Order: sequence, then C-alpha cells, then structure tokens
Amino acid sequence: VIFMCRSSFVVLLLLLSSRSCDGLQFNDIDEEVELVAQSSRYGSLWPLPQKVQLSDVSFKLTTSSFRIVDAKESSAGPSCKHLTFLNFSCHCVIFSTSTFVLWATSFEGNECDAFRDQPTRDKQHSPSLSVPPFAVLKAPKVWGALHGLETFSQLVYKDEFGTKNINQTTISDFPRFAHRGILLDSSRHFLPIKVILANLETMAMNKFNVFHWHIVDDQSFPYLSRTFPQLSQKGAYHPYTHVYTPADVKMVIEFARLRGIRVVPEYDTPGHTQSWGKGQADLLTPCYAGSKPSGAFGPVNPILNTTYDFMTQFFKEISTVFPDAYIHLGGDEVDFTCWKSNPDIQKFMEQQGFGQDYSKLESFYIQKLLNIVSTTNKGYMIWQEVFDNGVKLKPDTVVHVWIGGATDEEMHKVTGAGYTTILSAPWYLDYISYGQDWQKYYKVEPLSFNGTEEQKKLVIGGEACLWGEYVDATNLTPRLWPRASAVAERLWSAKDVTDISDAFNRLSAHRCRMVERDIPAEPLFSSYCPHEYKGV
Ligand SMILES: *[C@@H]1O[C@H](CO)[C@@H](O)[C@H](O)[C@H]1NC(C)=O
Ligand SMILES: *[C@@H]1O[C@H](CO)[C@@H](O)[C@H](O)[C@H]1NC(C)=O
Ligand SMILES: *[C@@H]1O[C@H](CO)[C@@H](O)[C@H](O)[C@H]1NC(C)=O
Ligand SMILES: *[C@@H]1O[C@H](CO)[C@@H](O)[C@H](O)[C@H]1NC(C)=O
Repeated sequence: VIFMCRSSFVVLLLLLSSRSCDGLQFNDIDEEVELVAQSSRYGSLWPLPQKVQLSDVSFKLTTSSFRIVDAKESSAGPSCKHLTFLNFSCHCVIFSTSTFVLWATSFEGNECDAFRDQPTRDKQHSPSLSVPPFAVLKAPKVWGALHGLETFSQLVYKDEFGTKNINQTTISDFPRFAHRGILLDSSRHFLPIKVILANLETMAMNKFNVFHWHIVDDQSFPYLSRTFPQLSQKGAYHPYTHVYTPADVKMVIEFARLRGIRVVPEYDTPGHTQSWGKGQADLLTPCYAGSKPSGAFGPVNPILNTTYDFMTQFFKEISTVFPDAYIHLGGDEVDFTCWKSNPDIQKFMEQQGFGQDYSKLESFYIQKLLNIVSTTNKGYMIWQEVFDNGVKLKPDTVVHVWIGGATDEEMHKVTGAGYTTILSAPWYLDYISYGQDWQKYYKVEPLSFNGTEEQKKLVIGGEACLWGEYVDATNLTPRLWPRASAVAERLWSAKDVTDISDAFNRLSAHRCRMVERDIPAEPLFSSYCPHEYKGV
C-alpha cells in the first residue's frame, strides 16, 4: 500500500528547526541551575525516547517525492487507510543517494479496526524507528505509529546551509506511564474551540494522550445538553456564543482521537455546581439564614429523589456523547455550610443517623451517583476527597490526587487500598511564578512515595492542570507550553532521565520547534529562535 501524502507532513518537514537554538550565550543568570543552551547529544528529541542510538552518519533530505508504504509483513492490509489522515506530503524526502525514504508501518493484528475505535489506556505502544537507508517504523498499535511519526519529525534538523538532514538513528520507545493528561477548564472562562484544538495538536507533539475536559463548574455551564438544554441556556455565560454544541463536542473528540488522545469529560458534583442550578430548579440546596431561606444555594441537594432522577438522565446522555471508557465525576471541595443551615437537611441527617458528620451526607450522595454512573457501563475517575471520605468505589476507579502537602502519604494510602491513581498535586500549572518553574515540574518523581512494587504499579500516570480563573484564549497556550512539556517528559521517559541541563538544551530546541509550528509557546529564558513567532 502506498499512502500518497499531503499537507501535514510537509508542514512538519518544512517547519522543522531542531538544533537551531545552539550556541546561545546567557548572562545574568539567577536561576537555581545555571543553564547555557547548547546542543544536546540527543538533538531536539522531546520527550526523550526510552532507547536511542545515534550516529554521526548524516543524510541530506531533499524535497522530492516521499511515500509511506506498508511493510510486507504488516497485517494492516490494503484497505487500511489508518495513517492517511495525517496527510503526508508528497514533497518529501530523498536521501543524497536518491533512494526514497520508505516508511514502512507494521502492526500486529488488524489495526485498521482499532483505528476506528477510541484510543485506550494502553502503554504497549512500543514504537521503534530506524532511519537510513530506509526509515522504518514498526508499532504494535497505530497509536504508537503516531508517536513514532512525531519522533521522526524531531530527528530532522537543518545544517548551517539550511539543508535538512537526518542522522542514522535507531530508536525503540514506549511510555513509562499510560495516562499522560492535560486538564483544561472551560467554565471559569469559555475556551473557543479553536484554542482547544490547537492545544490538542500541541499535546500530540508532546505525546500527551488524555484531554481532561473540566467542562462545567460554578461559574458557567457551556455544555449544551440535548436532554436538558436549559442548563446552558441559563447557566452559560451566553446561551449561543459561549456554549459547546453537540457538533462542537463531536469535533473535539474526533480531532483528539486522530491524534491518539482520549477525551475524559469532568462533570463535578455535588460542589462546584452553582451554574447547574440556574437551569435546573430544585437541584441545589437552598441555604437558610436563621429560619428563612436566604436566597442563596449550596451544593446539589442530596435528600431529594428528583436529584437522582436528574442525574440518571443526565449521565445517560453524557455516557453516549463521550466515547471514552471513563467519566470524571469530581467530588472535590464540598462546602458544608449551606447543608448545615437547612432544616430539611438537618432532619434527614437525623433520620439517617449521620449525627453532625456532613461528610457522611456527601458520601451518601456520591455513593448513589456512582451507582447511577455504573449502570451506564462507564468507569469513573474521582478527586481524592471521595476516597478520603471512605465512599465505596468500584475496583477500577481511578483516584485523582491533587492536594499538595502530604501527597506522598496520600499516594501511599490510595494505592495501599488497591486503587489505580493518577497524580496532579505537583503539576498545577495555573500557579505561576518568576523564573524557570518547569524545573520544579520536571524534578517530580511520581513514584517517590513509600510503597510496594504492587502499589507503584497502580500509579498509571498524571495530569498537568491549567485551571481557568486567570486563563482564556489570550494566554492559555503560552502559559501551558512549554511548562507542560516538562510533565510530558516525566510521564513518558525513563525514570533516570533527570539531567536538568540536558533537558534544558532539548527543551529549548523543542520549544523553538513548537514556535516554528505556530504554537506561541513561551520562552524558557533569554534566547532566540531562528524562526520567531510571527504573532497575528
Ligand atoms: C549528526 O551527525 C553530525 C555529523 O554528520 C554530527 O555532527 C551530529 O552531532 C549528529 N547529531 C546527532 C544528534 O547525533
Ligand atoms: C486531509 O486532506 C483532505 C483532502 O485535502 C481533507 O479533506 C482532510 O480534512 C485532511 N485531513 C486532516 C486531518 O487534515
Ligand atoms: C424517594 O424514594 C424512596 C426510595 O425509592 C422512597 O421510599 C421515598 O418515598 C421517595 N420519596 C419521595 C418524597 O417520593
Ligand atoms: C515504608 O512502609 C513500610 C511498610 O509499610 C514501613 O515499614 C516503613 O517504615 C515505611 N518507611 C517510611 C520511610 O515511611
């Protein structure tokens, strides 16, 4: 099978820069680690592959015809158009020997079918790549082939005459962690679809594979529900301009899927739900001032049957709209003040024998919610409080650890109880500070907690979170990149990849590559890129 190629890859090749940030001199350094960007012996590879064998044998690339062919031994089959969506260019590359660069893909099993499916949590990607005399890419799954293509693009560099080169290289690669996510928050500020798609594109360049879409919260409800359209009608910042229609959501999911990225939506309850109450009467708890309702509302009202009828219908819809096997159900930061003020709730607490322990009421609610979501055949992710409060969880629940301070202790507890977990506590990228804070994210070791081998195996990865209070379309991309790239390498590369100055060298080049690909990734430090961001 010969895949004729079109635009995307040409874009990659023509825009590639790689070691273009060499030779920069820095003065005036007041960082923790003095860094002078030099070329890394690993070029601009980011995240660093598990195994790289480089050589000094370099081949020139010329822009002539380039083809992707399916290897004879590949079981992908002639009808498989799995990689054509990448639209590889036919301009492409021949070596000085005028041999075609042949790119053979070989998959085990019939991956065509798999590519029609959703990416799943699977770390057996194992792409391997060897360049010249032919570029050969082998991957057991099509998702691994995607990562391999990105890696290939990172091997191309320009020499001093501006000619594109690629060195003889052998790489075999796989991610250390299966869950490598980015959380974006489209409630505190509405994020236009274009910004979300640009971020997904950048995630793919960094080999992230989960988009955690914190889609609604107190501030606004931009998700347009077919079953309950009044939720966004009343709860969005604007009912027409600041909503995600079913077509928008579908587009995001498909765009992500083609880049090997899962979309896990979060519908956080019972707290963080002020915007839900605007379009759904009686969903939230009326707060009292003395003996009278104050007019304010608190968390979801856990004592009404109508609440659970609503949640049943709502999550039935969500489970069909989002194809991923998991839904994030939130469950964090529930404020008990309003519940305490409400006489009906007090009466219910008494009947249930909860005493004054409102976390029991919270658990009562979450338990019922989890049972409802279980009937949709979805797995769920929850923030750590749900676990901390002792709610009964399905064995396949993913517990999301986010509270800083005693993070290691929490990881120890969650995995000790046998739950799969992901880590976000050290990776709240909405906190900004002067200097190179990427180093702080880079130095995190997710398995540093005290635990057995079995416990450590339960840590499937982590997520960088960019909460939206101070973030909208104007600043999302530069705030996230390349800071999130530090998290990307920590979650992909081997545990012993910890050399900060080598990371700085490669990240500088990687950042310039993102800029060259039109991603406004912010600088790491005083420097320049050969192709600066053009702005708008
Ligand atoms: C590629 O090869 C050239 C010599 O042809 C060498 O100078 C350079 O260091 C090599 N790059 C890498 C990343 O190995
Ligand atoms: C690939 O190219 C075709 C035809 O030019 C276009 O319809 C399609 O949207 C492109 N796909 C991507 C993923 O860019
Ligand atoms: C709520 O549902 C429970 C269990 O189905 C039932 O016993 C109870 O009477 C219902 N309450 C109301 C107010 O309908
Ligand atoms: C680690 O856990 C083991 C077993 O639970 C315990 O014996 C040991 O004291 C712990 N070590 C630290 C440093 O907490």
